[in-house]
Amino acid sequence: MSEKKKILILQKIHIDGIQLLENNPNFEYEIIEDTNVEILKSKIKDCDGLSLRTTKLPAEIMNLGKKLKIISRHGVGYDNVDLEVSKKNNITIAITTTANAVAVAEHVFFMLLSLCKRKSLLDETVRSGRFKDKNKLPGTMELWKKNILIVGFGRIGKSLIKRCLGFEMNVFVYDPFVTEKTIESYGGKKIENLKESLKNMDMISLHMPINDKTKNLFNMDLFKKMKKNCIIVNAARGGIIDENDLNEALNQNLIFGAGLDVFSTEPPESNNPLLKNDKVLLSPHVAALTEECRRRMGIETIQNIIDFFDKKLEQSKIVKL
Ligand SMILES: NC(=O)c1ccc[n+]([C@@H]2O[C@H](COP(=O)([O-])OP(=O)(O)OC[C@H]3O[C@@H](n4cnc5c(N)ncnc54)[C@H](O)[C@@H]3O)[C@@H](O)[C@H]2O)c1
Repeated sequence: MSEKKKILILQKIHIDGIQLLENNPNFEYEIIEDTNVEILKSKIKDCDGLSLRTTKLPAEIMNLGKKLKIISRHGVGYDNVDLEVSKKNNITIAITTTANAVAVAEHVFFMLLSLCKRKSLLDETVRSGRFKDKNKLPGTMELWKKNILIVGFGRIGKSLIKRCLGFEMNVFVYDPFVTEKTIESYGGKKIENLKESLKNMDMISLHMPINDKTKNLFNMDLFKKMKKNCIIVNAARGGIIDENDLNEALNQNLIFGAGLDVFSTEPPESNNPLLKNDKVLLSPHVAALTEECRRRMGIETIQNIIDFFDKKLEQSKIVKL
């Protein structure tokens, strides 16, 4: 490489990722913490590559990146990038395909177990001196032999099924793009008709992208089909569940509970009714942010940039536009 490539790191990443650039004579980098639009517009102009976390990159900003060749996402979603501009300007989008599936799958288990075992209620009962009232508490539930539906059987869905089978759950999978043979090879049963299947599910976990087909897919129409003890978890993308309908379904006891790591607006607006609904367990879009996963993502994000300029970035890391 003749001239040093300039890499913009939008929002801090793990030091072990930065170290890869520090140790490589072909690159120079700048870390930007303040990602307001004017700063982005000025900084994007002369960078060759970019590490991107949650900052939004709309067309008006991306179009100014005349030298920009690669956007390397710290994660696997890329809904904060303008795909039309990427295509038009031939900008490669890379994702961290190997870093975060386990972290998200574990987070789903944190949510399922916390909801089944009524974590907050039990904890509060002891702290408030009501230990002796324990027989008045509503019962807790087991995961053993429960039917779980995994919607979306990609990297995270495939990691989740292993954990479900470890808990001896019956696993069903809805993913129109994955064959019965593949699903069965992982120990699951393929579901052809999502709506029909819901009446049999104790738990549902969402792991597909948000797009025109999946936006508000889980709405009152589907909640009405679910079992009263059903728990739904969304650690995929906000907006796949209609939040007002979910709140209504919980209030009408159509389903038992929900775990949400993602929201249609992030952070959720203060008048979002789910913030006041104690049948919902909330987390601030952190499913992939374990210490271990932050490090893996930091390293993979930067390695993808280096590999791109060395012309050896694997096809599996590149988003097909
Ligand atoms: N909460 C977090 O911190 C976090 C972290 C990582 C990923 N995610 C999100 O999790 C989701 C899954 O990530 P992944 O790495 O497993 O993605 P992936 O691309 O490996 O898998 C997605 C799967 O969804 C399937 N799919 C597409 N449309 C579908 C539909 N209409 N119904 C059912 N299945 C459908 C695809 O066939 C694919 O198998 C993405 O939305 C991603 O953005 C969230």
